[in-house]
Amino acid sequence: MTSHNSTILVTGGAGYIGSHAVSALQKAGYQVIILDNLVYGHREIAETVLKAKLIVGDTNNRPLLDEIFANHTIDAVMHFAAYAYVGESVSHPDKYYRNNVVGTLTLLEAMEAAGVKNFVFSSTCATYGMPQTEFLTEDHPQNPINPYGQSKLMVEKILADFDQAYNLRSVSFRYFNAAGADPSGQLGEDHDPETHLIPLTLFAALGKRDSISIFGTDYPTPDGTCIRDYIHVNDLATAHLLGLEYLLKGGETTKFNLGNGSGFSVREVIETAQNVTQKSFNVVECSRRPGDPSRLVGSSEKARNILGWQPQYSDLHTIMTHAWHWHQQRHKLK
Ligand SMILES: NC(=O)c1ccc[n+]([C@@H]2O[C@H](COP(=O)([O-])OP(=O)(O)OC[C@H]3O[C@@H](n4cnc5c(N)ncnc54)[C@H](O)[C@@H]3O)[C@@H](O)[C@H]2O)c1
Repeated sequence: MTSHNSTILVTGGAGYIGSHAVSALQKAGYQVIILDNLVYGHREIAETVLKAKLIVGDTNNRPLLDEIFANHTIDAVMHFAAYAYVGESVSHPDKYYRNNVVGTLTLLEAMEAAGVKNFVFSSTCATYGMPQTEFLTEDHPQNPINPYGQSKLMVEKILADFDQAYNLRSVSFRYFNAAGADPSGQLGEDHDPETHLIPLTLFAALGKRDSISIFGTDYPTPDGTCIRDYIHVNDLATAHLLGLEYLLKGGETTKFNLGNGSGFSVREVIETAQNVTQKSFNVVECSRRPGDPSRLVGSSEKARNILGWQPQYSDLHTIMTHAWHWHQQRHKLK
């Protein structure tokens, strides 16, 4: 990567994926300002590990946004800040539409007022809803089945309209399941509550939980359990750098899937966790959960072709090893 003097505002930069993107931006020579309300983010990751400028505040706070844009020359915004618990979005849709849609709209309005024209957005494979093909491409129909996915799709639509009206150009990245941790062991996933399978298996290995549940063992997959696409968080971060450079060079508004291209079953994830950690833990087989497709795997050919993105850590064993390294350290500290 080349060196830059551009300044990037990273919302949600104290969170899991955002912190890895901040690190990648710093390594590439960008100046970074993090805006995070610390509802889920970690101050010490932003300030002590990343040594980044952290502004503690909310994307819904328009006066604060205006102040940030007035005091700094911002070349682009990377927008990770959102709530991302699918189940909670069903029970509290207002919370999700307020934070994910209204918060983003407020940010975009402030950008428009300040003349900031480049936006990289964290979208999700949840905008697709139930998959109709083996490998989802970007033109797969978008019919989200929960308010979380709806909120992200709404933002994608707002972004198309903002481009048309105000020439605000954006890259929307539809991630599959972010996983793994920075190989340094200094950054990683620390959600509370945690709902993602890989960290949950590692919590079980650490003795922080009693067992791991498999929801459904009778799916039409080789071992009967659901298949998902896990993409290493550093590969996501690299894609964000490439997406940013694409925009800074004048690229047009578009969206890209970011996935591994190969899926792993729940059983494979559990076996890999037991292999990597050399610990055994209880596995409980339960019935299916409503709304879980048997297989959800993305095609990321478009990002490879247009951005030249080449994921480095596609192998599940490596993803798990990096995550394990992080969780062992983090567990010691807490
Ligand atoms: N983790 C995944 O597998 C995954 C998959 C697809 C999409 N995404 C999207 O990627 C983004 C980052 O996800 P993550 O897993 O790193 O989550 P995270 O919760 O670790 O990070 C989000 C950060 O945003 C902050 N935040 C939330 N609302 C805010 C607001 N209104 N103002 C300021 N800060 C706010 C939180 O404090 C947190 O630090 C989210 O937009 C999420 O929807 C994540």
